[in-house]
Amino acid sequence: MKKDVYILGIESSCDETSAAVVRNGREMLSDVIASQIEIHRRFGGVVPEIAGRNHLLAVMPTADKALSDAGVKMHDIDAVAVTYGPGLIGCLLVGVSAAKAMAYALGIPLIAVDHIQGHIAANFIAFPDLEPPLLALVASGGHTSIVSVEDFNTFVPVSATLDDAIGESFDKVARILGLPYPGGPEIDRHGRQGKADIKFCPNLHVRGDLAYSFSGLKTAVVNYVHNLRQRGEEVPVDDICASFTAEAVGYTVDTFVRCAEERGVTKLALAGGVAANTYLRSLLSAECDKRGFTLFVPPPVLCTDNAAMIAARGYYSYVSGRDVAGLDLNARSVL
Ligand code: KG4
Ligand code: ZN
Repeated sequence: MKKDVYILGIESSCDETSAAVVRNGREMLSDVIASQIEIHRRFGGVVPEIAGRNHLLAVMPTADKALSDAGVKMHDIDAVAVTYGPGLIGCLLVGVSAAKAMAYALGIPLIAVDHIQGHIAANFIAFPDLEPPLLALVASGGHTSIVSVEDFNTFVPVSATLDDAIGESFDKVARILGLPYPGGPEIDRHGRQGKADIKFCPNLHVRGDLAYSFSGLKTAVVNYVHNLRQRGEEVPVDDICASFTAEAVGYTVDTFVRCAEERGVTKLALAGGVAANTYLRSLLSAECDKRGFTLFVPPPVLCTDNAAMIAARGYYSYVSGRDVAGLDLNARSVL
């Protein structure tokens, strides 16, 4: 009988310390997330130095809880998978160092996981029968990328953002509107109550290529709000949120489905924190239905940063013998 494979995943690339145990790459036995949102809220964004220190405090208790929640012992673990980049360097170093120490102490392989590929692998947990090839859209605070997943270990970047990531633009628009950090969920909530009748960047769709760019849209919203304030006029927060979301998401979905059409791919997957956005989920699902595409969208808890997705991605590296790292593994802010 085939032996079950248990992977311990560790994630610390931004402001969530997370550890998880995943069985055979598909079955999430635990997923513990120690969020630092409350710590960073007063600064209006993540302060890297503070985030790094808090990862240090949280990483081992989080790993212990992930093992106990999963009902497994340290010695049952076959490999430790860790995010080594991209992300905040001081934060990544904490997870990488902890994972190295555990792998060394247990005498088991250390697997280096690309955070973006991890986000996509959340789909393998949410949909246990899902198999590549597929086209994935990773929409997060740090990335807006279309990735062709050719097989479980081959991820080919197709398109990325030329400037801001979509989540970053949500967070910056929220900040100018005086909404608390993180701004994405706030804009989502306010936008659902507003009318999408303001046009900030009518030419967003005319680029025609597959590259994303969000800084022009973000700047248009910032200028719009500044102008209203200078004239002493009321700022219609709900309508701005609805209009910004309609443009940002419309453009994102349009580019993604066009990319799928051009490549003749019909299996699409969504990943990353912004995949929690209500309008993105509904618009993409409607556009996929129109074209007969099959769309996979994980539940929100698997879309934002978590270690289960890292363990799931790490499983396929482990069984193929790829990306097994040495104890000289270093964290990298950019991959
Ligand atoms: O994937 P993630 O947890 O961290 C990164 O790897 O960046 O994504 C966080 C991003 C933030 O920019 C946050 O504002 C955004 O995802 N986000 C949302 C929503 N929930 C989280 N953006 C729009 N609508 C949401 N509901
Ligand atoms: Zn992420």
